[in-house]
Amino acid sequence: MSNQRPLPVAHPMDGIGIVRPTEKLFDSWAAAVAEFGSAHINGAGLHAPVTPNRATLNDLIKKAALLADVTAELPGDTVHNDLFWLTLDGEVVAFLSVRHGLNDWLREAGGHIGYSVRHSRRRQGFATLALRHGLERARELGLDQVMVMCDDDNVGSYRTIEHAGGVLQDVSDQSMHGHPALRRYRIDLSVGSASLG
Ligand SMILES: CC(C)(COP(=O)(O)OP(=O)(O)OC[C@H]1O[C@@H](n2cnc3c(N)ncnc32)[C@H](O)[C@@H]1OP(=O)(O)O)[C@@H](O)C(=O)NCCC(=O)NCCS
Repeated sequence: MSNQRPLPVAHPMDGIGIVRPTEKLFDSWAAAVAEFGSAHINGAGLHAPVTPNRATLNDLIKKAALLADVTAELPGDTVHNDLFWLTLDGEVVAFLSVRHGLNDWLREAGGHIGYSVRHSRRRQGFATLALRHGLERARELGLDQVMVMCDDDNVGSYRTIEHAGGVLQDVSDQSMHGHPALRRYRIDLSVGSASLG
């Protein structure tokens, strides 16, 4: 598959990697997923509640390969999507999803990029790194701007987005999608590279 190569790792933190879902990291993936309990995991490609067993991961690996394959025809309005895991010394620390385009739902309440950091690794800069990798990938895909969204009260996420150059477009009631006050940000990718460092 042409777009299955790993992203370049370009940041100052030692031991960081970015990989596609792989059974090699099953134990760490399962432990990371378990930290979310029954909550939805943004950017993980999974529907809550998740049972983090081998069958779930095998299905995820197949799904990730299909969604990333730009030659594959996808059902309905499903868009192509790259699923990544951010790792630290081989431990899965964050989930990242980079959609190649937007359908109606993503335009309203999902955006191009989604991410989550496992609870035990929060407040250590991993969302910041995940979003930067997402922006690199989006640029590589040829997008010149992306939409990134988060709840109005999600301070950690909107700080992450604003540090990455996000410009607030609006805050809207997306209750029908489970978000009574949703911030939609635009990040322009046409001006230089996402400041890595
Ligand atoms: C929101 C989330 C992604 C932040 O991840 P993180 O790795 O802790 O974030 P970072 O360490 O990169 O911090 C980014 C910024 O947010 C701030 N921040 C992070 N969590 C915060 C919190 N709970 N309260 C206030 N500020 C917070 C950090 O201080 C930093 O800002 P600063 O540089 O100005 O100090 C994480 O809490 C999470 O996974 N939440 C659930 C999923 C989610 O909300 N995903 C985003 C929607 S797509």
